[in-house]
Amino acid sequence: MAEPAARPEGTSGGIVIKDDWPGYELDLFSYPAHYCGDLDCVFIPHGVIMDRTERLARNIMDDLGDHDIVVLCVLKGGYRFCVDLVDRIKSLSRNSDRSIPMRVHFIRLKSYLNDQCTEDLHILGAEDLSFLAGKNVLIVEAIVGTGKTMETLLKYVEAFSPKLIKVAGLLVKRVPHNAACLPDYVGFEIPDQFVVGYALDYNEYFRDLTHICVISKSGKMKYKI
Ligand code: IMP
Ligand code: MG
Repeated sequence: MAEPAARPEGTSGGIVIKDDWPGYELDLFSYPAHYCGDLDCVFIPHGVIMDRTERLARNIMDDLGDHDIVVLCVLKGGYRFCVDLVDRIKSLSRNSDRSIPMRVHFIRLKSYLNDQCTEDLHILGAEDLSFLAGKNVLIVEAIVGTGKTMETLLKYVEAFSPKLIKVAGLLVKRVPHNAACLPDYVGFEIPDQFVVGYALDYNEYFRDLTHICVISKSGKMKYKI
């Protein structure tokens, strides 16, 4: 059987990071000494993430300004992106004629073991989302890989009858088998590599890393379960 094709490059609307992007040498940046040897490169430096997030906030403001929104932060991986995105939306709300009244709610999803997606997706903290009925909802997620997680979450949230659902995803991977759903707001489109940092984890490690980095082979072995 033919290999399934990966998502075509440049279709996400995010900044495209090509398959042959080698990243930056680690020693050009600062990172915690306890991860020495566990990483291959700095893939997206923190400053670039912040600059891209600022622009995503503006796009969200252009689309949703003056409407109340409920931000649904997908934990744990989405917490950094959510904090920074909400901060920038707040800053725009303070400094322009338009503003977005925001509420923030957290849900927790878990589906990965090591660097593999499992069928077993758990949604925690989502017991009663009935307050979403008739609301504009902005789901904030750090990374969309196969898209299965997002597909499941969207179905779950739709059942509570919100008026509108938009999704902001910092990273979208070009992977085979991807489900059709893409976030409305995409930070970066990346190759099919396992990345960590900026709250993204490998078995709960690396959330305390500022930049988005590629984990090394020995890093994967060291923190394998
Ligand atoms: P999907 O269902 O394959 O789209 O996977 C989405 C979820 O898998 C995200 O919410 C992350 O928790 C996790 N994930 C996927 N790829 C990565 C990665 O490269 N690094 C860290 N977590 C990842
Ligand atoms: Mg994870």
